[in-house]
Amino acid sequence: MLERIKELKKEIEEIVANSVEEAEGLRIKYLSKKGEISKLFEEFRNVSADQKKEIGQAVNTLKEFAQEKINLLREGLQEQETKGYGIDLTLPGESMKLGTRHPISIVKNEILEIFKRLGFVVSEGPEIEDDWHVFGALNFADDHPARDMQDTFFIQRDPDILLRTHTSSVQVHDMETKKPPIRTVTFGRVFRNEAISYRAHCMFHQIEGLYIDENVSFADLKQTLIYFAKEFFGENAEIRMRPSYFPFTEPSAEVDVSCSICGGKGCNVCKNTGWLEILGCGMVDPHVFEASGIDSKKYTGFAFGLGIERIAMLKFGINDLRLYFENDVRFLQQFESAH
Ligand code: DAH
Repeated sequence: MLERIKELKKEIEEIVANSVEEAEGLRIKYLSKKGEISKLFEEFRNVSADQKKEIGQAVNTLKEFAQEKINLLREGLQEQETKGYGIDLTLPGESMKLGTRHPISIVKNEILEIFKRLGFVVSEGPEIEDDWHVFGALNFADDHPARDMQDTFFIQRDPDILLRTHTSSVQVHDMETKKPPIRTVTFGRVFRNEAISYRAHCMFHQIEGLYIDENVSFADLKQTLIYFAKEFFGENAEIRMRPSYFPFTEPSAEVDVSCSICGGKGCNVCKNTGWLEILGCGMVDPHVFEASGIDSKKYTGFAFGLGIERIAMLKFGINDLRLYFENDVRFLQQFESAH
């Protein structure tokens, strides 16, 4: 019998279990009522009196040994399985990845900061507007094509309610509600009935500036824009102004900045001209002042408007406008370090 005990001890020393169920199987095999060790206890009854002490001790030691070994196996496995289910409360929490700022927000914030340093305050206006604030007060003729369904999204006709096509509408609100001197910048979404392509979208973002006071001149406008260009594009940036037309400014100009990619030498981004168009601007038309109740004899002012998508394209080298609105994190994450 001692021989059998030895054999079993050796066997138990080598047992392994890969799951809690397997450990339970081993417990049944060795320690249950019909298990191997229980059988030894049965046999023990027939052992001669002089051997009882020695064999009794050996069987008991074996039983304790088996219990300890199987318990250890089971505890280890239980711990592993709980961890596997992800409910080990002692583990440190998984860190959550922060989102990144959208390139449009990065550029918008940077531009607004520059104008805030010049004393402009940020103002806001609605995206859903009436004809007056988007067109009428801004001196658009009744037959101007922007007033056509082809170009503008109308929500309602007569009276016309529409999605603003530019942030110049906020100028009108500012002129109606504030007294000069007025120095405001606004930003926001604008909507146009355009086919979506790599260079056009039916929804995009603009920033608009307005400065009204006594004796505001074209030189003030130019100097403000030079300051902006150098702050945003770098010390070496230069601007040029080309005569243009907008119904709400007179004179009007379109502004180009020297191409920051080739330094003005000419490349495919600037189509070999060395210049990139960035905004429209001009001196506020006296009609616009009168429409909003500002004395055009006493006050002059300038305004400018720029498209944020376009500026962000130049800044980050983005070549397709649609990428901004697809919200693919692989695109959005690239601008993380930029703010
Ligand atoms: N509103 C014009 C546009 O959407 C941009 C613009 C041009 C704004 C000249 C202005 C300005 O304030 O003076 O194309």
